[in-house]
Amino acid sequence: MDLQRLEPAPPPLGADHVARGLRLADLAPAERPYVILNMVATADGRATVDGRAGPIGNEADRDLFHHLRTQADAVMAGARTVAIERYGRLVRDPALRDKRREEGLALDPLAVVVSGRLDLPADVPLLADEHSKVVVVTGSEGRLEGCRAQVEYLRGEGATVDLGAALRRLRDEYGVRSVLCEGGPALNAALLRERLVDELFLSLASKLDGGPDALPTVRGLPVDGVVDMDLVWVLRAGSDLFLRYRLR
Ligand SMILES: NC(=O)c1ccc[n+]([C@@H]2O[C@H](COP(=O)([O-])OP(=O)(O)OC[C@H]3O[C@@H](n4cnc5c(N)ncnc54)[C@H](OP(=O)(O)O)[C@@H]3O)[C@@H](O)[C@H]2O)c1
Repeated sequence: MDLQRLEPAPPPLGADHVARGLRLADLAPAERPYVILNMVATADGRATVDGRAGPIGNEADRDLFHHLRTQADAVMAGARTVAIERYGRLVRDPALRDKRREEGLALDPLAVVVSGRLDLPADVPLLADEHSKVVVVTGSEGRLEGCRAQVEYLRGEGATVDLGAALRRLRDEYGVRSVLCEGGPALNAALLRERLVDELFLSLASKLDGGPDALPTVRGLPVDGVVDMDLVWVLRAGSDLFLRYRLR
């Protein structure tokens, strides 16, 4: 049996090293991109405090959140997350755009917004950003007016879009081989139900919320059977844990 060294502890790693060279695209199956999910939760599994994710994570979580955006061709989020969290240009820091180039990726990730009804506020900063290219996965026939971002549409049929088909089209039509999904809980459930998630990066904050209105990290129709996962790594910053799982 192998022995694991706990003391003296190995040297600490910055988010830059943790989220570097993940080469997610190389792990993609032939028919769709590799999909990783990144979420932060309280120790009682809540993904929101007072309706937002921000109060949950610590500085290390925010650092890792931004560095993970340097690892994927596309960043995906549900319409409510984009609206409530006021998404803007996905990689604002020029040093992180340089990191993307070193990883062989485009300077800016493709932004993928999932919105069945296309009910997005017009003033979301992402849509107003001239550097951003946005693909809206939607069941609506409508268009978003007054955007300075370059916006294209992947249209499905009906308000509930076939996300597997959308991912296949992202690969075939946009060359997307890796997707970082940032939630929220409703989109997570929809992806999990279709078994479209390959990995979960979960930041577990040393906080309890217990609020009746706080959302869990996954919500919606139940997944067909329990999803088993293998632990890839555990990192620690202060009292918070950073878990990476691979879904079976
Ligand atoms: N802790 C964290 O890490 C974290 C991360 C992200 C978000 N959050 C929090 O989570 C909350 C938002 O999450 P949420 O669960 O309410 O919403 P969400 O998952 O961000 O977005 C839900 C919307 O996505 C669209 N959608 C999802 N699956 C779809 C499908 N298969 N077909 C068509 N459309 C689909 C629908 O848009 P339409 O309504 O247009 O049909 C749906 O209303 C916010 O409070 C945010 O702060 C926390």
